[in-house]
Amino acid sequence: MTPSPSALADAELLDDGSVVRLRWTDGSVARFHAIWLRDNAPDPATRDPRNGQRLITILDIAADVRLAEARVVDGDLDLRFAPEGTQPAGHGCGFSAAWRHAQRYDVEVRRQRGVPGLDVETWDARLGEAPPTVSWTAARHDPQAFRAWLADVRRYGFAIMTGTPTLAGTVAEVAELFGFVRETNYGRIFDVRAEVNPSNLAFTGLALQVHTDNPYRDPVPTLQLLHCLASDADGGASTVVDGFRAAEILRAEAPDGFELLAGHSVPFEYRGTGGVHLRAAAPLIRLSPEGELRGVRFNNRSAAPLRLPFAVTAAYYEAYRHFAGILDRPALELSFKLTPGDLFIVDNERVLHGRQGYSGAGRRHLQGCYADRDGLLSTLAVLEATPETKAA
Ligand code: FE2
Repeated sequence: MTPSPSALADAELLDDGSVVRLRWTDGSVARFHAIWLRDNAPDPATRDPRNGQRLITILDIAADVRLAEARVVDGDLDLRFAPEGTQPAGHGCGFSAAWRHAQRYDVEVRRQRGVPGLDVETWDARLGEAPPTVSWTAARHDPQAFRAWLADVRRYGFAIMTGTPTLAGTVAEVAELFGFVRETNYGRIFDVRAEVNPSNLAFTGLALQVHTDNPYRDPVPTLQLLHCLASDADGGASTVVDGFRAAEILRAEAPDGFELLAGHSVPFEYRGTGGVHLRAAAPLIRLSPEGELRGVRFNNRSAAPLRLPFAVTAAYYEAYRHFAGILDRPALELSFKLTPGDLFIVDNERVLHGRQGYSGAGRRHLQGCYADRDGLLSTLAVLEATPETKAA
């Protein structure tokens, strides 16, 4: 990223002061609305200097706010707002030329529908050649390595940690390195192993189609961690698939099918023991209002009967089958055998996980927990803003 220019060259009022056009010394130009500048003024009467929180509401700004004057003085902008009483405190209102350049919104953004955000890189089976990995020791004692691992989770929605203690509860300790455990009806942490009377298909030795967890919750847990305590059973390799890559492929191969999955909410349901009956409805492919790819929710075990308009149901099923087929393609599947002390984390709104079948001879014991992406991203943002740990 090129650094923002630190000085302005000139400023010109437009539309009777409701807009100002700024030109920086590097030749870049952008318009700003007077109301935007007033709303975002960083002076201490508008923004709390300690926490950056805004101290005024939108209704504190005059509806007809405009700029009475805009002058460039020593490369910075001197603004005067009108009408009377709407001026933020302080000379020039505290904006910097570089900040305004970084915040400019007068740029043409070409958004392609169904494309993920800039921090995201989609992947296929080849990520398995060098999966993002950190050791337990480095995660705790090497902030650079930990920051890089968290950034990998943001980028790939998947990462591995090796060398963790094979002690019950370690999975929660890992979650607490960056955030908070999300407790559910399955407990603070849950065990995944064969049981005589399984209450959930995850707790048997059957193969599991790749899926996202707990689609019947709203909000859904956005991270899942699985930690291997014991593994001497045959088979049982873990598999992960990038749901965003699968969605991109569906969009390319069947644009209408992509729109069907993105355009209809479908119900998910889980009825468990102990008075649990969870229900939520959401699209299999979730887009932001601007069309950015934001989430995938896919779980055949918890999908409840569809209640779509009759006219679209057959086409929806066709798109659903198509998407499931893409998710099953070996070219997309990263599989790995967890050994005791290994842990992996997935973005549960993006990366699907599953398991090949394993035999009952021997033991395979995983412990899992849920956590949330916002906590992880917060920890990452702090590390990225710290000189000692920000990326080179
Ligand atoms: Fe699962």
